[in-house]
Amino acid sequence: MPRTVLFSPISLRSVTFDNRIVVSPMGQYSADEDGLATAWHLMHLGHLALSGAGLLFTEATAVEPRGRVSGRCLGIWSDAHVAALAPVIDFCRRHGGAKLGMQLAHSGRKGSVTVPWEKQVGMAGGAGGWLLASPSAEPYPGRPVPEALDAEGLARVRDAFAAAAARADRAGFDMIEIHNAHGYLLHSFLSPHANLRTDAYGGSRENRMRFPLEVFEAVRAAWPDHKPLGVRVSATDWTEQGWTPDDTVAFASELKARGCDYVCASSGGSSPHQKIPVAPGYQVPFAEQIRREAGIPTMAVGLITQPQQAEDILSGQQADFVALGRGILYEPRWPWHAAEHFGEEVFFPPQYERSHPSMRPGDFLKPFRDRLAAE
Ligand SMILES: Cc1cc2nc3c(=O)[nH]c(=O)nc-3n(C[C@H](O)[C@H](O)[C@H](O)COP(=O)(O)O)c2cc1C
Repeated sequence: MPRTVLFSPISLRSVTFDNRIVVSPMGQYSADEDGLATAWHLMHLGHLALSGAGLLFTEATAVEPRGRVSGRCLGIWSDAHVAALAPVIDFCRRHGGAKLGMQLAHSGRKGSVTVPWEKQVGMAGGAGGWLLASPSAEPYPGRPVPEALDAEGLARVRDAFAAAAARADRAGFDMIEIHNAHGYLLHSFLSPHANLRTDAYGGSRENRMRFPLEVFEAVRAAWPDHKPLGVRVSATDWTEQGWTPDDTVAFASELKARGCDYVCASSGGSSPHQKIPVAPGYQVPFAEQIRREAGIPTMAVGLITQPQQAEDILSGQQADFVALGRGILYEPRWPWHAAEHFGEEVFFPPQYERSHPSMRPGDFLKPFRDRLAAE
């Protein structure tokens, strides 16, 4: 029997996760120019599948070419993308312990930039970039003016999300998360900073929620009933005029009514004027509020770095999952160390068995334990 909530299994629909630790979606900017997975993805997702986390997400994966953030982002808009992912999935399934999730995304008015190590500079249409898609022809400050999606454009994006979900199923993913956060296309519809429409998709909160909810419904219909589907939201724009946590509760309630299995509470991204009080666990209160007020399972993310902190979030019923980003990139054995800390069992590949502390003389984890005790 697990002693902690962190290492207790949890099920959504027919999928059971060994524990509550999630590898958060993280853009790698290492696909080829057509958005196909490369050896980097095999290495990156492969080693994180061995990490002991219960769930491993791909990076934001674009549903159409102009939905990429950079020209090197992963895509899932054709069967060739499924084929390129096949060795990655095969490795993760054969050797790893994590369930596999794909994050489906469209970058909207924040796409068409260079990769982070080239400073994410906006690329004009002719310089390897593309025309951006958005609710309104209102640029993200400092970026090119996007095209406002008309009825045909909306239908195309919605259908692209649904087709991508069907491909993710064929590729063998266990679950999908729709990226509805960080100022990208779907969040842009919710946020008054980007959505200036006067038709049925703009104005009131109900109208601004309409397109993200239509996309959710299309994905739910294309994705098998027995597989879970969640949504990542920006719970607040962190601005006076923007989207708020109460808006998010209303949105989460609508998602739940349509068969959403969990909401991941991130924040920000729609305005450069945002003021974020960054601190350990700073987004956890949003996960807690959504869970309590909308009555839906939540995933907490953002500066969750310590095993006891993660356990406290879960045992305090603030969230049902904890997602780790930078911390697990830096220390991909985080779940092994957390399991050792709590005396729990966790996935361990047989190839590495002889390295397990129980198989070796001496206490190799003492420095890690001492550090935890001191914190
Ligand atoms: C390199 C990197 C890439 C990221 N890419 C994505 C992404 O593709 N989709 C997403 O929803 N969040 C993305 N994020 C945000 C993380 O998923 C996570 O929410 C954020 O880093 C906060 O968690 P942390 O404090 O544990 O890093 C990215 C973060 C990093 C550091």
